[in-house]
Amino acid sequence: MKIRIFVGTGGVGKTSVAAASGLKTAIEGSRCLVLTIDPATRLKTALGIGTAGGAQKVPIEPFAAKGELWAAQLDVKQRLDHMVRRHARAGKLQLILEHPIYQAVARLVGIQELMAIERIGEALAEGYDEVIVDTAPSRHALEFLDKPEYFVQLVGSPIVRLVGRTYHWWEKSSLARLGRFGFELYSQIESLVGVKLARDVLEFFSAFQGVAEAYARESAATLKRLHDSRTTSFTIVTSPFKASRDAGFFWEELQKRKFFVEGLVVNRIWPELAVSARPGATREAEALVTWYRHVSAAHRQAWEHVAAEYSPKIRRLLPLRELPADIDGLPALHQMVQAMGQA
Ligand SMILES: Nc1ncnc2c1ncn2[C@@H]1O[C@H](COP(=O)(O)OP(=O)(O)OP(=O)(O)O)[C@@H](O)[C@H]1O
Ligand SMILES: [Mg+2]
Repeated sequence: MKIRIFVGTGGVGKTSVAAASGLKTAIEGSRCLVLTIDPATRLKTALGIGTAGGAQKVPIEPFAAKGELWAAQLDVKQRLDHMVRRHARAGKLQLILEHPIYQAVARLVGIQELMAIERIGEALAEGYDEVIVDTAPSRHALEFLDKPEYFVQLVGSPIVRLVGRTYHWWEKSSLARLGRFGFELYSQIESLVGVKLARDVLEFFSAFQGVAEAYARESAATLKRLHDSRTTSFTIVTSPFKASRDAGFFWEELQKRKFFVEGLVVNRIWPELAVSARPGATREAEALVTWYRHVSAAHRQAWEHVAAEYSPKIRRLLPLRELPADIDGLPALHQMVQAMGQA
């Protein structure tokens, strides 16, 4: 089982390159899942498939594929419900699902990232040979790794455990009626957010804590596998003019977190022009050809520069050319697979 995670800044081709890499391994014989944790639906366009939920099998028979390709998109609310159903303590399921705070939880900043790790965990259990993860462009591109790590630590912290465990006892005891004269911790919370809200939050939290702890346990195991270079590798995707800056940023950030960077893809390099402007062509046509040549030469120079810098550090360096059209379905994606082979 292998996990390959594709990261990069906005619009450089992460989804296309991740999907093409999935198609390539499936053609070669793997049972592969491409999982996008980006709420945008670009993966479906790239693969030319519908929008039904759950993992879908991609029809890749026309490419004489030896393996299978599956595609799935993260559905945050559905994953959250699924997790609650699996882990809620006896008798607490309805309380959680119907609690007004639960409705807000699904919309909380950060839940997306927590559920991404949960979904990767499930994909690992589903027995694919390879799981390819397409990530979202975000302000902090590696949030989906940082937030679950932080959450796992938080849930394990003594104060959070104490609040979760003792709330039930506190609520039943006469201390609850004493309000702010009661247990110092709760009265502090009450004075901060008001009695009603404190009750709601604590009631919800005490019911939800079992789920949070189960999440923390499973995510810790998933995060451990993401840190294991025998299982997981990262590929940085970038474009020629962003290559140097992006490679530097992601290399640093991933090193800092002790992840294994295996690949660097510089996508959308304009190929050299095989023809020249015909004799007698208009000045505009000549200018256009000259301009193309300059950009294309600058692209190749940017690639060579970054390749020289990173070849001692990153095993797989891949230049990918600009294709004639958008990657909007399997035939176009297959062209990208072929371009990968030629590089
Ligand atoms: N090599 C290529 N040649 C031509 N078009 C490409 C190539 N790679 C990607 N594209 C096009 O560039 C656009 C962006 O690609 P894609 O959605 O894969 O990028 P992304 O990095 O996943 O974007 P986002 O950051 O929005 O998730 C798409 O329209 C896609 O068809
Ligand atoms: Mg994308």
